[in-house]
Amino acid sequence: MTERLTERTAVTERIAVLGAGVMGAGIARVFARAGHEVRVFDVDPAAATRAAESAGASAHDTVEAAVVSATVVLEAAPERLELKLALLAQIEAANADAVIASNTSSIGADALAAGMRDPSRLVIAHFFNPADTVPLVEVVPGPATPQATVDRMVALLSEAGKVAVPLAQQVPGFIANRLQAALYREAMHLVELGVASPAQVDQVVTAGLGPRWALAGPFEVMDLGGLDVWTSVTDGIFPSLGDASAAPDMLRERADRGELGAKTGQGFLPRDADASARFAGRLRSLIDARDGIVEVPSNLE
Ligand SMILES: NC(=O)c1ccc[n+]([C@@H]2O[C@H](COP(=O)([O-])OP(=O)(O)OC[C@H]3O[C@@H](n4cnc5c(N)ncnc54)[C@H](O)[C@@H]3O)[C@@H](O)[C@H]2O)c1
Repeated sequence: MTERLTERTAVTERIAVLGAGVMGAGIARVFARAGHEVRVFDVDPAAATRAAESAGASAHDTVEAAVVSATVVLEAAPERLELKLALLAQIEAANADAVIASNTSSIGADALAAGMRDPSRLVIAHFFNPADTVPLVEVVPGPATPQATVDRMVALLSEAGKVAVPLAQQVPGFIANRLQAALYREAMHLVELGVASPAQVDQVVTAGLGPRWALAGPFEVMDLGGLDVWTSVTDGIFPSLGDASAAPDMLRERADRGELGAKTGQGFLPRDADASARFAGRLRSLIDARDGIVEVPSNLE
């Protein structure tokens, strides 16, 4: 089981999920499974109904109906600043005191907070796709978020079976997407140098680094290898690493040609339309297996 629900949270929250797409539907399932009352709103009523049915939640026709009595609002609408600002204003008009958590991946909390009447209500809760499968949620304060709100989100998510990692401050990409971007930059650099093909780089990750990283992060791996060793390794390798400061040509040119990956059938390699669904199923099996062999801390300082 992905959800490590050992004891029910004492408080049943009333949670409104706004935006019932890829992320919102999974987020609704996470909170409904944990025993909270979940209301879903989407501008597309069919999406709200689908998500509500899959979660055991209720679908609502207006923002107000979904949030009016909520204690926590989860915003999972499209990644467009103007749209999110308009939605935040609607939430604030309909509900005076719920915590408002945004699932934004890349919009700064300060940009969201700047449009709010009471920016102390805002916190970022950054889930990973599929939201009801990947344990991690990054919890990020905005410029006016009290620590108590960060703590409350971490507790709520932990009780719902997630691994909630609080950040002390906002930084673009938070932690996970920065680490991922650093690796992707070097992966493309290696291909551009002609060292290996995209498939070979992927093999190095899935057969070597990936399995280790499921059990030990970079700091534990360095501790296990020896910090003297890693001082020499980083001295030796860092000077030759790629330092691109924008999307490399091999990525941008494919995207410009419409080679977008699984959704168009061709990315770095040919991918059929079912690739994403197959991947999600395998990921769930892997995380379930990992749950059986690691003790996952529910909260880290
Ligand atoms: N997809 C991912 O991998 C991923 C991962 C982490 C975070 N996020 C973030 O989650 C948020 C949602 O992304 P997604 O991938 O679920 O998008 P999506 O396009 O799958 O879903 C967005 C949903 O919001 C609905 N919507 C549009 N306008 C709305 C409004 N005004 N009020 C309520 N609902 C509205 C749409 O109808 C759609 O169903 C974005 O901020 C995104 O950056 C996405």
